[in-house]
Amino acid sequence: MLLEKEKKPFAAVFTSTLLDWYEKNGRSLPWRGIADPYPIWLSEVILQQTRIQQGWSYWERFMHRWPTVEQLAAASEDEVLRLWQGLGYYSRARHMHQAARQIVTLGGFPSDYAAIRSLKGVGDYTAAAIASFAFGEPVAVVDGNVYRVLSRVFGIDVPINGTEGKKTFTALANQLIAMDKPASFNQAMMDFGAVQCTSKSPHCESCPMLEMCEAYHTGRVEALPVKLRKTTVKTRYFSYVLVRCAGWIAVRRRPSGDIWQGLWEPFLIETPSKADVENVIRQFEVVGRLTLLKENVRHVLTHRIILADFYLLEALSRPSLPDDYVWVDELSYDEYAKPRLIELLMETLNG
Ligand code: ADE
Repeated sequence: MLLEKEKKPFAAVFTSTLLDWYEKNGRSLPWRGIADPYPIWLSEVILQQTRIQQGWSYWERFMHRWPTVEQLAAASEDEVLRLWQGLGYYSRARHMHQAARQIVTLGGFPSDYAAIRSLKGVGDYTAAAIASFAFGEPVAVVDGNVYRVLSRVFGIDVPINGTEGKKTFTALANQLIAMDKPASFNQAMMDFGAVQCTSKSPHCESCPMLEMCEAYHTGRVEALPVKLRKTTVKTRYFSYVLVRCAGWIAVRRRPSGDIWQGLWEPFLIETPSKADVENVIRQFEVVGRLTLLKENVRHVLTHRIILADFYLLEALSRPSLPDDYVWVDELSYDEYAKPRLIELLMETLNG
């Protein structure tokens, strides 16, 4: 959402109110108010999935052990991982160590957003934080705090974890950023979200934004920001057995009320976990040979993952299968509408 012209004064009021609040309420943190990008970067990497309380002591230990990026680069990966121990997400430590070596190769810490963003493990958020804190570049950080504050004050219900959300809030934050004080603005947004406009029980009664807060006036403080529920992706286990007898195969039309309605499929054994197909086939008392063609084929649908195994059963006589299966000439099956997964099965079979 871009601010309309007539709302420009509103933007200015937002920014100055935020900066006033920060002057009085900003947290004093050891990596603030310094210009060296190394300790800033270190703090941002450590704080990515870690609370300040816990991250602070790690930051101090790292700074004590490796006071410069050159020293961190000269350390071994094992040493870095060892000091990282307890923070979790170890790829963060490995990437940080690799980035330290990149920085040394570059001859020093890159000094603009795009160059910082290209370092290993540095995403949009971290690049904006370093570029603004260390180099005064007016590029807005967008984290959970920023989503929360902006969605509430401006009454924006675009889901923050959808494709449009990131664009919308990034554009708005970059319109609001104080061009002369980008570091303070970004730190103020983080602190305002963390201290005042908290996700649970925000302190509206003492909030300097109260008068201009759209969410407050429309009773949507608890409802904003909007987060899309990520539907859980369920795994289904399908074992397909191409039952073949004298050039004929057993197929059925898939019933309604499920995926692939109306498409034609070979004999299907669906089970809550990986099936014991040999055992199932034994129950049909069929004389023939069962061959596993392919195992653990992952087929990804919108809300489902199908984990499929493909078998061929060459039977000497037609087993009696459930009623909905019919026998068709194998060659004619080519013409039947079938799921992509079954096309794969047929390709596996026919080389
Ligand atoms: N969380 C991540 N980075 C932070 C910072 N610079 N200040 C406060 N909280 C943070």
